[in-house]
Amino acid sequence: MISRLNIVILAAGKGSRMHSAHPKVLHPLAGRPLLSHVIDAARELGPAKLLVVYGHGGEAVPQAYADSDIVWVNQLQQLGTGHALQQAAAELDDDGSTLILYGDVPLISVATLRALLDTMKGDAVGLLTVSLPDPEGYGRIVRDALGQVKSIVEHKDANETERAIHEVNTGIMALPNARMKKWLAALRNDNAQGEYYLTDVIAMAVGDGVRVNACHPGRHWEVMGVNSPAQLAHLERLLQHDLASRLMERGVRLMDPKRIDVRGELVCGRDVSIDVNCVFEGRVVLGDNVTVSAHCVLRDVSVGEGTRIAPFSLIEEAQIGAQGRIGPFARIRPGTELAEEVHVGNFVELKNSQVDRGSKINHLSYIGDATVGKNVNIGAGTITCNYDGANKHRTVIEDGAFIGSDTQLVAPVTVRKGATIGAGATITRDAPAQQLTLSRAKQVTIPGWKRPVKKPAMGDE
Ligand code: UD1
Ligand code: CA
Repeated sequence: MISRLNIVILAAGKGSRMHSAHPKVLHPLAGRPLLSHVIDAARELGPAKLLVVYGHGGEAVPQAYADSDIVWVNQLQQLGTGHALQQAAAELDDDGSTLILYGDVPLISVATLRALLDTMKGDAVGLLTVSLPDPEGYGRIVRDALGQVKSIVEHKDANETERAIHEVNTGIMALPNARMKKWLAALRNDNAQGEYYLTDVIAMAVGDGVRVNACHPGRHWEVMGVNSPAQLAHLERLLQHDLASRLMERGVRLMDPKRIDVRGELVCGRDVSIDVNCVFEGRVVLGDNVTVSAHCVLRDVSVGEGTRIAPFSLIEEAQIGAQGRIGPFARIRPGTELAEEVHVGNFVELKNSQVDRGSKINHLSYIGDATVGKNVNIGAGTITCNYDGANKHRTVIEDGAFIGSDTQLVAPVTVRKGATIGAGATITRDAPAQQLTLSRAKQVTIPGWKRPVKKPAMGDE
């Protein structure tokens, strides 16, 4: 195994086929930049040094990362993969080994990389290759009569015989540092693309009597690169299908593993059931027996056991207690904390509110910046007027209160324990405990009133 490991991630390329103003490696896959997936895999190998070569797109790439363990190397002009590694050479150790990864090959697994590093016994070169039915565009692996790797020939430099080879270079390789520095210094750009090819170090290794050991990825799609929006979408589906499989292996019931998107971390208890077209972002924790119905979006949410989330609910940065009933069409915004057995019904918006055990807000309400006690019943169309145009104010509704439908609670205001608010009230002062408070114009009936009738038009009889 490797004594001292350096890892270099090449990420300076232009990515022109993305047709985007953003650097390719910052495009998200499963909710995180492509480069972050590669950095995560790299870190799991515990490298002594982790370098990223960036260039196209400028400082946007290093600026996206606050991480202090990464050494950023600016490749001002993209003169090829060999040139990219030359820029990093001064930062690399004199002995030990260097693993080269691509910032746009995000699905590479740690298991495959470990297997590659294991092939580097002594000071051999480790090379990750794959056989493709259509090898067009890739560097071909040329082997000698004994099957030993001899060189890599880029597609544009290859002759007919070489182009017929299906085994291609994935770009991922591991090199012994001392020799690598020498090989890098000897690279030339007299080839079809006028570039400094990193792949030329393979023939140099063989010339120096260094063995090149090729191995293959655990799953062929691990080495797929992203060059276009279509390829990015393809990789997204591959990754999502893999994530869905892992959830099902742990007992999660997915109504359709092809219709779930996890853009972050989804942690599930036992007997969790998830219907189609749900999106989970950030860190989402679902307790035992939680049911998430179709078309829900949950971001940075924890849900207590036994809670059922009905279709079309959007929940962000919130804690939902056990045995709750949420939705359909609930919108729960950041800062909301619901205790056990809370019911939040259709077309209800909650923001930065704490709702205690057993309370119900079942229809068409906006509850923002509120503290709601236990067993409170909030009628349809209740609105906390929490914003005066300049500042936000809190509404407090104590245990057992009953808020009649179509009530406005003008904050700051408190509804005391067990108070009842008559329907249609505008509450601007505190409502006392256990009493009925209402604010309502008296209902009147006008005797003898007649509906107006249409005047006959000119010319009509
Ligand atoms: C490269 C390999 C080819 C291999 C293929 C796999 C070389 C010469 N060729 O070809 O054998 O089959 O990858 O996809 O290495 N990069 C830089 N700076 C540069 C050029 C590239 O950082 O100056 C980075 C890119 O951002 C990318 C990676 O290196 O992450 C590969 O570059 P790319 O242009 O895609 O290489 P290919 O020509 O496709
Ligand atoms: Ca490529």
